[in-house]
Amino acid sequence: MSERLTKSAARNIFYGGTIFFLVIFFGLTLHSHNYMLNESTNMDELTPSVVAGKHIWERHSCVNCHTILGEGAYFAPELGNVWVRYGGKEDPEGARDMLKAWMAAQPSGIEGRRQMPQFNLTDQELDELVDFLKWTSEIDTQNWPPNEAG
Ligand code: HEC
Repeated sequence: MSERLTKSAARNIFYGGTIFFLVIFFGLTLHSHNYMLNESTNMDELTPSVVAGKHIWERHSCVNCHTILGEGAYFAPELGNVWVRYGGKEDPEGARDMLKAWMAAQPSGIEGRRQMPQFNLTDQELDELVDFLKWTSEIDTQNWPPNEAG
């Protein structure tokens, strides 16, 4: 072994290192992808109604005010766990009615309180939104958010 780094040794370190870390990068990418599809996401429950709810969510840009699983704007409450906060686990029908009634009753007009617009959604659209929010709450987020308020 020569005492100084030769050109070819430097090249080998460069290519070897690049390949080594690329392999790690692609391995982790594949792992994340598989984990999302097979473990954290509840694919069996992905009904047409949940998909329709997601489209309503996007069409009305709910994310411009709300966060969902931490992504979005910080004007209004996190909705990734709103189903759980409204007691959906204990009383699914009660939580559904409450969520629909809440959305149908906005804006509240209470002075000093942030307001949510009225989107004039049909009963079916409200049901689909609730299905989407319920489905989202069942994603395995590894106990995120750390507290109920999100
Ligand atoms: C212009 C901002 C804005 C947009 C857009 C918006 N919201 Fe809201 N939303 C709010 C605010 C503000 C509150 C909290 C109001 C309050 O507590 O009085 C709220 C509250 C809620 C709540 C109750 C949350 C809780 O923790 O009690 C739900 C459910 C909800 N929004 C759903 C939606 C959905 C679904 C959409 C899209 C169709 C949407 N919001 C779009 C501002 C918005």
